[in-house]
Amino acid sequence: MCGIFGYIGHQQALPILVEGLRRLEYRGYDSTGVAVDDGQSIQTHKTVGKVADLKAILPPSVQGTLGIAHTRWATHGGVTQVNTHPHASEAGTVHLVHNGIIENYQQLRKGLLKRGIECVSETDSEVLAHMIALEIESGSTPLESVQKTLRRLRGTWGLCILFKEHDLLVCARNGSPLIIGQGEGETFVSSDPHPLTTHTQRVVYLEDGDVALIKRDSFSITSIRGHAVEPSITVLEEAWGEAELGDAPHYMYKEIYEQPDALRQCIAGRVDREMGTGRLGGMGLDHATLVQAPHVRLLGCGTAAYAAEIGQTLIERMGRIPAVAHISSEFRNNDTVINPKAIYLAVSQSGETADTISAIKEIQLKGGQVFGVVNVVGSTIARLCGQGVYIHSGPEQSVASTKAFTNMVAALTIFATQLGRTRHLSKDDGRELIHHLQQAPHLMETYFEDTGPIGEAVDLLCDAQSVLFLGRGLSATVAKEGALKLMELAYIPCLAYPAGEMKHGPIALLEEGSPVVVVAPNDHLKEKTMSALHEVKARGAKVILIHEKGDSIAAEGDVSIAVPSIHPWLTPLLTVLPLQLMAYETALRLGRDVDRPRNLAKSVTVE
Ligand code: M6R
Repeated sequence: MCGIFGYIGHQQALPILVEGLRRLEYRGYDSTGVAVDDGQSIQTHKTVGKVADLKAILPPSVQGTLGIAHTRWATHGGVTQVNTHPHASEAGTVHLVHNGIIENYQQLRKGLLKRGIECVSETDSEVLAHMIALEIESGSTPLESVQKTLRRLRGTWGLCILFKEHDLLVCARNGSPLIIGQGEGETFVSSDPHPLTTHTQRVVYLEDGDVALIKRDSFSITSIRGHAVEPSITVLEEAWGEAELGDAPHYMYKEIYEQPDALRQCIAGRVDREMGTGRLGGMGLDHATLVQAPHVRLLGCGTAAYAAEIGQTLIERMGRIPAVAHISSEFRNNDTVINPKAIYLAVSQSGETADTISAIKEIQLKGGQVFGVVNVVGSTIARLCGQGVYIHSGPEQSVASTKAFTNMVAALTIFATQLGRTRHLSKDDGRELIHHLQQAPHLMETYFEDTGPIGEAVDLLCDAQSVLFLGRGLSATVAKEGALKLMELAYIPCLAYPAGEMKHGPIALLEEGSPVVVVAPNDHLKEKTMSALHEVKARGAKVILIHEKGDSIAAEGDVSIAVPSIHPWLTPLLTVLPLQLMAYETALRLGRDVDRPRNLAKSVTVE
């Protein structure tokens, strides 16, 4: 979603800001802008479209070593140049970029109007520039002006503010991430760690309620009320600087094929093959908690919610205790009953998903302990939970989540094994599962050597009005994940159903030639899934069948794609791969923007 980059230092700001924006592009946005202070005046340039479009309208030389930049994902007001950030006060004394939502902006806007100040944009953000400028006019320092303004707000903000004739930036955070990176004689601000890594590894994650005064070679943090806050320095992982495209045609392609290595990273050092159990040290779970937990609840959105759903099934199977996966946005709004003795797992690639963050806060308020299952180190969810498991996928830049999904599933499998071994899972069963999990990266590579007739599947999919995805058990969830991938990338309406439920409604959609994707690995539910397949075929639908290599059911699909055989509890790690490739290839065939599908954002930081 929206991205912020800020710079104050000894180098020309504009190229650094534009490169920062380019590295934020993967988050998803619809317009972009930049403001640079040359010491005399502040020059602003903004445009609807991509960072490349902004570059095209920039004058050949913009001098200045201080500036702010933004990628906007519209929430309040359409995708127009006037709504694009940075926003400025009437006299141009204050320029700012804002992520988040100001809930009381209408009321604040009316207050400004009474003082004769009319907003030019439809955004909630612009009011802040005018309010801060009014405080400056009445004699407050930049820092005081921001603190006073923030005390009047309701909502969420990540803010980076530039003041005419002041050689500094002021930043603030409440519910929308913001990170300060300290270099030599230069300081950077970003809403995402990724653009910082080329400049510095030493960063400070602002906490909610923090306001930071940023200078060239130093910064200080206070609360909104002006109390000093001690910054806590984090050293970023090198890996976040290495997510360049290389020879790959798209990030999604690169990330799909990175899955075997990513999975190795996730498993390494976390399994005890001898004892047939998992070892998730970062969760800090003692034996008593594991044994006494009455149930497990998992939270996530989108792909993370589907990984959580697979986790739910595995935890119940191995741990023999109730587990439920929830969509975070529903969970937080349903006044859910919290048992403080239960185990709560928050699953998220970015670690910044607003709905999941709200759900975590709700659980914590009611005394529950939440463990993060997160990819981005140091992200809000990782820090909010304080304990959990990093899935170690490495940077995932394509909006469509791929390698994070398989690593979330793997991390939850390891957790389920650890939980199961403290209860009813036998050593032999644990050992067998761990053995197969360790084989999974190699089996992924085997599949990638021969991905099967993906092109033929795409022939069926790209002209479809809608596509039905079916599976049972774990594969019902894989079907949902496949449907989400195809829908978000190719913009084809997709419906995923447990195969047994098809005859209760979705079968009405089928007509001659309708494509139906059936996920049928060789588990105890395969025969039942095949009954649904026969019902589908009897209505003239065309079946794209995902099956295990060597299985005679291959003959039943109009297009059949084989994946290597694996332990029945681990099939999602392999059956999802052809679904990812089908979505990718269909989107390409239809000329879609694969890495940045329309309207979507990589980090969904608003509720
Ligand atoms: O960063 P998170 O894992 O919390 O993100 C959750 C969803 O927004 C994300 O999985 C989304 O559904 C993806 N576009 C799916 O490919």
